[in-house]
Amino acid sequence: MAQEAVLGHLKRNQEISDSGVFSQEKGIDHEELVNAIKSLNAFGLVIASDIKREKWLLSEEAQSYVKYGSAEVLLFEAVPAEGTAKAKLQEIVKSKLPVDLDDKTKSLIYDKGWAQAMKNKWIGLEDSQVSRKVEHVEDKVKDLLIQIQNGEAVGAKDIDTLKRRKLISLQIWKGYSLKKGPNYTATRKKAATDLVRDHLQRDEWKDVEFKEYNFLAKGQPTEGGCLHPLYKAGLPNFFVKQQIQMIFLQMGFEEMPTNNYVESSFWNFDALFQPQQHPARDSHDTFFLKGDWNLILDLYLGGYGYDWKREEANKNLLRTHTTAVSTRMLYALAQGPFTPKRYYSIDRVFRNEAVDRTHLAEFHQIEGLICDRGLSLGHLRGVLEDFFSRIGMSKLKFKPAYNPYTEPSMEIFSYHEGLKKWVEIGNSGMFRPEMLRPMGLPEDVQVIAWGLSLERPTMILYGIDNIRDLFGHKVRSSLNLSQTHAHTKSVFVFISPSGDFRWNRALPVV
Ligand code: PHE
Repeated sequence: MAQEAVLGHLKRNQEISDSGVFSQEKGIDHEELVNAIKSLNAFGLVIASDIKREKWLLSEEAQSYVKYGSAEVLLFEAVPAEGTAKAKLQEIVKSKLPVDLDDKTKSLIYDKGWAQAMKNKWIGLEDSQVSRKVEHVEDKVKDLLIQIQNGEAVGAKDIDTLKRRKLISLQIWKGYSLKKGPNYTATRKKAATDLVRDHLQRDEWKDVEFKEYNFLAKGQPTEGGCLHPLYKAGLPNFFVKQQIQMIFLQMGFEEMPTNNYVESSFWNFDALFQPQQHPARDSHDTFFLKGDWNLILDLYLGGYGYDWKREEANKNLLRTHTTAVSTRMLYALAQGPFTPKRYYSIDRVFRNEAVDRTHLAEFHQIEGLICDRGLSLGHLRGVLEDFFSRIGMSKLKFKPAYNPYTEPSMEIFSYHEGLKKWVEIGNSGMFRPEMLRPMGLPEDVQVIAWGLSLERPTMILYGIDNIRDLFGHKVRSSLNLSQTHAHTKSVFVFISPSGDFRWNRALPVV
């Protein structure tokens, strides 16, 4: 309505000289008018120029002076012609003041009136007697306040006095004067928010006024969301992250802190005795990041038996395995008096792989390690059999393998009842002394460790044949991992609440 009023007025007139006056004439709230002007101005329908006006506002006290007279005049008039005792004056003044004033205001008028009338020498005080010193007074303050209220000009000196008495204060009023703008039309078309098919088909797009994007607007708060299937717990047979976590906890493992996706090449490779010319260090296999860490520990220097480069070890990357975290943990462990430890983690790792049905560039890795005196490959086998049987894979086979950081190393295979074949499910080994000794772990301490992806056993156990259904942007939140695929039911076992600590028998007592 305000917009139409402005545009309509400008159709017949050159300008709107004052939005304040215009709002009063049209009965439009000035604030509403200002909003309309801002929008019209932004789209060039009008040209708005600022008007600033200083306006004196009357305080509440001043408004009462306008109504009843100033305090000093009220007080003067209350003083009887023959004078009175000072002690009685307040009572007399209050009794003469209008009845609709409350007692607090009356006291205030008395105090202010007394001070001002004395200052003006309208009254005098001798021997506790108050008397008038002039015959007649004029209420100049009241008159000035009325003039100000009516917007009439008042001299600077008077303004100053009133200001000092806090009877008036300055208010800056902001408004606009308006002229037609370059895009002026008498009726404004509704601005379109999007370009739609009709605009193109009817050739309207040339004339349509588009609403500007407000990049500063806050978006809608997101209220939806659900747990990722890999994290979902759905009793009775909940699986994946929580279940594996439970198994580790039942087996007495502690979780490692894995909250750093960005790692240095040093911890991801060098500290794991992985040569700098190893193909895994190629950018085809690893995501390198700008910047470096410069966190190389000198104790490793020279221990690699080749031309080792500090710059290479300093490089930043997205960790390719959580074994980088295991290395950090083992190093930290070696810094204190030795205590046996069982660590695990389940978190994300990144590899620069071509994405297909069974591979992604990022996935979750499950990692477990035991650090103790006198461990052997037999202990590793025992722990793995225990661990995997708890997730429903009791038939295991091991195959010799190679990892730069473990010797011996074993790939782990499990017999898949549904697929009727052996499938690879993980990798394992005993960490090399070349890795452990520079850290400072005692000579007789060994570390057995294994790693696997979280997605792999999930796919096998739930008969999912495309990893993209499980992880990545296409993940189906409806994926119900508690509904085991018919042919995999037989291989799924529940963890018994008591837990079977079979691995304890295979390990030395710690
Ligand atoms: N880091 C290995 C991998 O990424 C897994 C592993 C962990 C192997 C610990 C041996 C010991 O596949």
